[in-house]
Amino acid sequence: STGGLSDLRGRPLRDLRISVTDRCNFRCVYCMPKEVFGRDYAFLDRDELLSFEEITRIARVAAAHGVEKLRLTGGEPLLRRGIEELIAGLAELRTPDGRPLEIALTTNGSALAMKAASLKAAGLTRVTVSLDSLDEALFQSMNDVRFPVGRVLDGIRAAHDAGLGPVKVNMVVKRGLNDHEILPMAEHFKGTPFTLRFIEYMDVGTSNGWELGEVVPSSEIVARIGERMPLEPLGATAPGETAARWRYADGEGEIGVISSVTQAFCGTCNRARISTEGRLFTCLFASEGHDLRALLRGGVDDAGLADAMGAIWGARDDRYSEVRATLTPELRAARPKIEMSYIGG
Ligand code: GTP
Ligand code: 5AD
Ligand code: SF4
Ligand code: SF4
Repeated sequence: STGGLSDLRGRPLRDLRISVTDRCNFRCVYCMPKEVFGRDYAFLDRDELLSFEEITRIARVAAAHGVEKLRLTGGEPLLRRGIEELIAGLAELRTPDGRPLEIALTTNGSALAMKAASLKAAGLTRVTVSLDSLDEALFQSMNDVRFPVGRVLDGIRAAHDAGLGPVKVNMVVKRGLNDHEILPMAEHFKGTPFTLRFIEYMDVGTSNGWELGEVVPSSEIVARIGERMPLEPLGATAPGETAARWRYADGEGEIGVISSVTQAFCGTCNRARISTEGRLFTCLFASEGHDLRALLRGGVDDAGLADAMGAIWGARDDRYSEVRATLTPELRAARPKIEMSYIGG
């Protein structure tokens, strides 16, 4: 049997994050800054991307190994043509004991109003939408393509109405840029069906020029909100969850904080990532991936693919977010890292 993998730290494989495109129609300053991802930036060619058949095959083998949740990411996953077709194929996969997989998708929301119904019909379980500010001018300068905030809010609503909930909203907080939007965002989403999650700005990739001083610790976020609207801690719903959850004491819903910098959660990390061109990464901060595409295109059978994926997970020792604190800025800079738009969030 292939079920129940365990890595060198005893962590199972439960969650597979699949990047379906390295392209995005936004140029968020902390992710795909225009200076790096400009007009002449060389995105991957079509034949370099994993095909839907290749993605589905990897996901099927992963499910046999214990994966219960798939998340489609990018870049912007809704830019991948025919994504509904991929979702429909993934929706047919089953765990070894016969359950369908959860299929989630992280999007910037720009195409959601248009696509929510067809995504739901294809078999998508739920979506998470990134939204960094409610202030029109600030939001447009952060996405750097002048995309209006109202259209993302429409997308969030459309996803909810289509049954793609519970919809989560992700806000990356960068000090001095959008931290004054913490309270307005919390107030806006309090009492709605949407769970807002605040994300500590991370040193992913090499193009965003990350500095520790730009991180707003989650403890500060919780304190700032709790001062106005009292909060109580909630337990985790799923083992290995990224977010710590807090509920409003008045019963008006909950928020989450994702503290990858100040309170790393590597100890329970059960996530693997497949990059757009089919490399398997055992950590968001891994410097190298394992080329599954070469195996697939070289004619490997399912048993061979399962063995390869099992061996990679079995040798996994990653815990970058726990190690980060011990690195000097020089050591951190010297470490090659992969851009988020390529490996997927
Ligand atoms: P849920 O299933 O809804 O809880 O989603 P999620 O938190 O697993 O995924 P999402 O795409 O919403 O990611 C939220 C934030 O957490 C993003 O900034 C991700 O980059 C970050 N994140 C997700 N997984 C990991 C991880 O394994 N390590 C680190 N350091 N950050 C992660
Ligand atoms: N730090 C933290 N989160 C990030 N995201 C993109 N870049 C970063 C970063 N440097 C977020 C996106 C999306 C999620 C998948 O990752 O906003 O919500
Ligand atoms: Fe695109 Fe998301 Fe990166 Fe923004 S954070 S540039 S929306 S992939
Ligand atoms: Fe997992 Fe790596 Fe993130 Fe730690 S830094 S939680 S090991 S992906």
